[in-house]
Amino acid sequence: MLGVRGRGCVFVVSCCCFMFLAVARTTSPSEVNALSAVKSSLIDPMKHLRNWNKGDPCKSNWTGVKCFDRIGNDGHLHVQELQLMNLSLSGSLAPTLGQLFYLEILDFMWNEITGSIPKEIGNISSLKLLLLNGNKLSGSLPEDLGYLSNLNRLQVDLNSISGPIPKSFASLDSLKHLHMNNNSISGQIPSELSKLSKLLHLLLDNNNLSGYLPPEFASFPDLRILQLDNNNFKGTEIPASYAYMSRLVKLSLRNCSLQGTVPDLSGIQNLRYLDLSFNQLTGSIPLNKLSDNMTTIDLSDNHLNGSIPRSFSDLPSLQRLSLENNFLIGSVPANIWSNMSFNTTTRLTLDLRNNSLSSIFGDLNPPENVTLRLGGNPICNNLNIRNIGQFCGSEAGGDGTPESSSNSTMICPIHGCPEDIFYEYVPASPVPCFCALPLRIGYRLKSPSFSYFRPYEYPFEKYLTSALSLDLHQLSIDSFVWEEGPRLRMYLKLFPVFDANHTIFNTSEIQRIRGRFTSWDFNGSDFFGPYELLNFTLLGIYSNTVSETRRESISKGILAAIIGAAACALMVSAILFLLTARNRAKFKNKLLRKNLFSKISQKIDGVKSFTFREMAVATDNFNISTQVGRGGYGRVFRGILSDNTMVAIKRAEQGSLQGQKEFLTEIELLSRLHHRNLVSLVGYCDEEGEQVR
Ligand SMILES: *[C@@H]1O[C@H](CO)[C@@H](O)[C@H](O)[C@H]1NC(C)=O
Ligand SMILES: *[C@@H]1O[C@H](CO)[C@@H](O)[C@H](O)[C@H]1NC(C)=O
Ligand SMILES: *[C@@H]1O[C@H](CO)[C@@H](O)[C@H](O)[C@H]1NC(C)=O
Ligand SMILES: *[C@@H]1O[C@H](CO)[C@@H](O)[C@H](O)[C@H]1NC(C)=O
Ligand SMILES: *[C@@H]1O[C@H](CO)[C@@H](O)[C@H](O)[C@H]1NC(C)=O
Ligand SMILES: *[C@@H]1O[C@H](CO)[C@@H](O)[C@H](O)[C@H]1NC(C)=O
Ligand SMILES: *[C@@H]1O[C@H](CO)[C@@H](O)[C@H](O)[C@H]1NC(C)=O
Ligand SMILES: *[C@@H]1O[C@H](CO)[C@@H](O)[C@H](O)[C@H]1NC(C)=O
Ligand SMILES: *[C@@H]1O[C@H](CO)[C@@H](O)[C@H](O)[C@H]1NC(C)=O
Ligand SMILES: *[C@@H]1O[C@H](CO)[C@@H](O)[C@H](O)[C@H]1NC(C)=O
Ligand SMILES: *[C@@H]1O[C@H](CO)[C@@H](O)[C@H](O)[C@H]1NC(C)=O
Ligand SMILES: *[C@@H]1O[C@H](CO)[C@@H](O)[C@H](O)[C@H]1NC(C)=O
Repeated sequence: MLGVRGRGCVFVVSCCCFMFLAVARTTSPSEVNALSAVKSSLIDPMKHLRNWNKGDPCKSNWTGVKCFDRIGNDGHLHVQELQLMNLSLSGSLAPTLGQLFYLEILDFMWNEITGSIPKEIGNISSLKLLLLNGNKLSGSLPEDLGYLSNLNRLQVDLNSISGPIPKSFASLDSLKHLHMNNNSISGQIPSELSKLSKLLHLLLDNNNLSGYLPPEFASFPDLRILQLDNNNFKGTEIPASYAYMSRLVKLSLRNCSLQGTVPDLSGIQNLRYLDLSFNQLTGSIPLNKLSDNMTTIDLSDNHLNGSIPRSFSDLPSLQRLSLENNFLIGSVPANIWSNMSFNTTTRLTLDLRNNSLSSIFGDLNPPENVTLRLGGNPICNNLNIRNIGQFCGSEAGGDGTPESSSNSTMICPIHGCPEDIFYEYVPASPVPCFCALPLRIGYRLKSPSFSYFRPYEYPFEKYLTSALSLDLHQLSIDSFVWEEGPRLRMYLKLFPVFDANHTIFNTSEIQRIRGRFTSWDFNGSDFFGPYELLNFTLLGIYSNTVSETRRESISKGILAAIIGAAACALMVSAILFLLTARNRAKFKNKLLRKNLFSKISQKIDGVKSFTFREMAVATDNFNISTQVGRGGYGRVFRGILSDNTMVAIKRAEQGSLQGQKEFLTEIELLSRLHHRNLVSLVGYCDEEGEQVR
C-alpha cells in the first residue's frame, strides 16, 4: 500500500457488531458442480459463459442463471432457471444437469447442441419448461422424461431426434404443449398419450411416424391443435371419433398417407383450419356446414369425387379453399365469393385446378380480392363463358400476389431521429414523429389457424400487447413472412410508452418483457397458436444497459462480499468514503471532485470527512492481518474507528484505480443502494498531496 501514486479511494463500511459469524448464503454445492459440468461439456465459441467461473452462480449473475430469491430449507440458494437461448453453443448436454433439482425452466433453444437428451433431466421433478428446440440433438427421447409431472411445455422440435415416443409420456400430468415436429421420430403414436388431459397443442409434423392415428385422441378434453403433417400412417383412416374433438381449432393431417373418407367435422364448433391435403382420401366431401369460423379448408391432392358442397358458400371468414388435384365434378359455386363482403384486408383464394368441373353456378366475375384458379377443368374449354381464359392459366401453385408487409408512410423527416442510429420513429405513436429506441424481437407463429394475416393483424396486436401489458401503440410489426409449415415469421419492434422525457425502456422493463416471452407467461392463443421466440435483440444504449447492469452487479457483489466477510450479521450503520488524491492532482480535477462530493453530500445527510490517517490508524496501517477480502478494485480491510465503530474499508490498488466517471457512478450507486443492512453514506475523505501511502 506504500508508494501508491495517484488517487486512491477507500470505502468504509461501518458495522455495529463485532461478531464474525455467519457465512454468506451460497448456491448449493451440487448445483455449482452441475453447472461447471454443464459448461465443460458445451463448446462456447463466443465466450458467453466466460463469467461461469467467477464467484457464486446465484450471486455473481452468471449468464443465463437465475436463482430463487429465497434460501432453500438446506440453507442454500437454488437455481430456478437456465436460460441459454441462441448463444451459438455446441457440444453436448451434461447428464449432471439432472442435479439441478429445483430447476423450473431449462432453455437451450436455437443453439447447435449435439448428442442426446440426458435421461437425468427426468430427475428434475420441479421442471416446468423444457425447451431444447432448434438444436442438433439426436438419439431417442428418454423414458425418464415421463417423470416430469410438473412439466407444462416440452419443446424438442427442429432437432434430429429418432426412435419412438415413449409411452411414459402419458404420465406428464401437467403437460399442455407438446412440440416434437421436425425430427425423425418413428413408430406409432402411443394411444396412452390420450391420458394427457390438459394437452392443448400437439405438434408432431415432419417426423417418420407410422401405424394408426389413435381414436382415443377424441377424448382429449382440451386439445386445440393437432398437427401431424408429413408422417406416414399408411392405409389408416381418419378415426370417425375425431368428429367429437369438441375444442379443436386446427386439424392438420397433410401428407400422412391416409385413406378412407373425409370425416364429417361439422360438429366441431371452434374449428377454423382443416388441412387433409396430400393423402389418398376417397369419396365425396361431407355436405354439412363446417364452423362459421373456418378460414382454411385444404383437401387438395386426394382422390375425392362428387361435387363441391353448397355449404362452402356460407363461410364468412373463409380465406382459402384448396380442392385442386381431385376428381370433383359439377359446377363452380360463384356464391362462395358473391356471398362474402370484402374490405381492404380480406382476401380469398379458391384453387380448384385439375378436377372435372364443367360449369359455373352464378356469375363468373369475382372481385379483385378473390384469386380463382380453374386450370385443368373441362370448364376451361367452354369458350362461351366470358373471361374464362383469365382463370384457366396453368401456372403452378401460388395464391395470387403473396401476402407481404408494407411500410406505413410517415411524414417525419428522413433520418430525423437525433439520438443515435438505432432510434426510430414510433409508427403508431399518438404524437407524430416521436423517436424512441425499440426492442427488436424475432417471433414466429408455429401453427396459426389462418391463411392470410392482414385481417388478423389488429387482433394479433391487441392480443400480444395485452399479453405483455403494453399499450397498443408500443408494438410495431416491422415485417412478416410466411414460411413452410405454414408458419408466420415476424419481426417485431416494441417501443417505450410515449413520454417526452423517456425514449428508452429501463432495465427492469426490458427484463420484464423478455421474461414474459421466455417464460411463456402468456400462452399462444387458440387462434394464433403457439409461438416461438427467435431472438431478442438489444441494440444501441440497451447493449450498454446490459453491461452497465453487469458493472453494477460487480460492485454490489463486492459490497456483499465485504458484508459477508466482515460478518456484520446485524446492522451496518454507515458507509464511509475516503479519497486520497495524488500530489500533483490538477486544480481542475480537484474542483471536479469537489463538485462531485458536494453533489453526493447534497443527496445524503450527515456526510463526514475522514482523514487518510484515521483510516490508517483504524486498520493498523492497513496491516495484512486486518485484510478480510479482495475485490475488483482493491483490498478490503477490517478497521475500528476512534469511536469504536467497526468498519470495512475498501481501498483501490495501483493499476486498478477507477476513472473519475466510474468513481462517480459507484458513489452514486452506493448512495442509491437500498440494502436492508446498509443505512447511509456518512463520510468521505479528500486529502490532497501530503499523504504518502
Ligand atoms: C436420477 O435418475 C436416475 C436415472 O434416471 C435414477 O436412477 C436416480 O435414482 C435418480 N435420482 C434421484 C435422486 O432422483
Ligand atoms: C420442417 O420440416 C419440413 C419438411 O422437411 C420443412 O419444409 C420445414 O421447413 C421445416 N420447418 C422448419 C421450421 O424448419
Ligand atoms: C421411417 O421409418 C421406416 C420404418 O417405419 C424406415 O424404414 C425408414 O428408414 C424411416 N425413414 C427415415 C427417414 O428415418
Ligand atoms: C410428404 O412427406 C414425405 C415424408 O414423409 C416427404 O418426403 C414428401 O416430400 C412430402 N410430400 C409433400 C408433397 O409434402
Ligand atoms: C368462432 O370462434 C369464437 C372464438 O374465437 C367463438 O366464440 C365462436 O363461438 C365461434 N363461432 C362459431 C360459429 O363457432
Ligand atoms: C374487414 O372485415 C372484417 C370482417 O369481415 C372486420 O373484422 C375487419 O375489421 C375489417 N377490416 C377493415 C380494415 O375494415
Ligand atoms: C381488394 O383489396 C384491395 C387491397 O388488396 C383493396 O384496395 C380493395 O379496396 C379491395 N377491393 C374491394 C372490392 O374491397
Ligand atoms: C420500406 O422500408 C425499407 C427500409 O426499411 C425501404 O428500403 C423500402 O424502400 C420501403 N418501401 C416502401 C414501399 O416505402
Ligand atoms: C431476429 O429475427 C428476425 C425475424 O426472423 C430477423 O429479421 C432479424 O434479423 C433477427 N435479428 C437478429 C439480430 O438476428
Ligand atoms: C417531462 O419533464 C418536464 C420537466 O422536466 C415535465 O414538466 C413534463 O411534464 C414531463 N413530460 C412528461 C410527458 O412526463
Ligand atoms: C440468433 O442470433 C443470431 C445473432 O447472434 C441471429 O443471426 C439469429 O437470427 C438468431 N436466431 C436464431 C433462430 O438463430
Ligand atoms: C444480478 O442482476 C440482477 C438484475 O440484473 C440484480 O437485480 C441483482 O442485484 C444482481 N445481483 C448481484 C449480486 O449483483
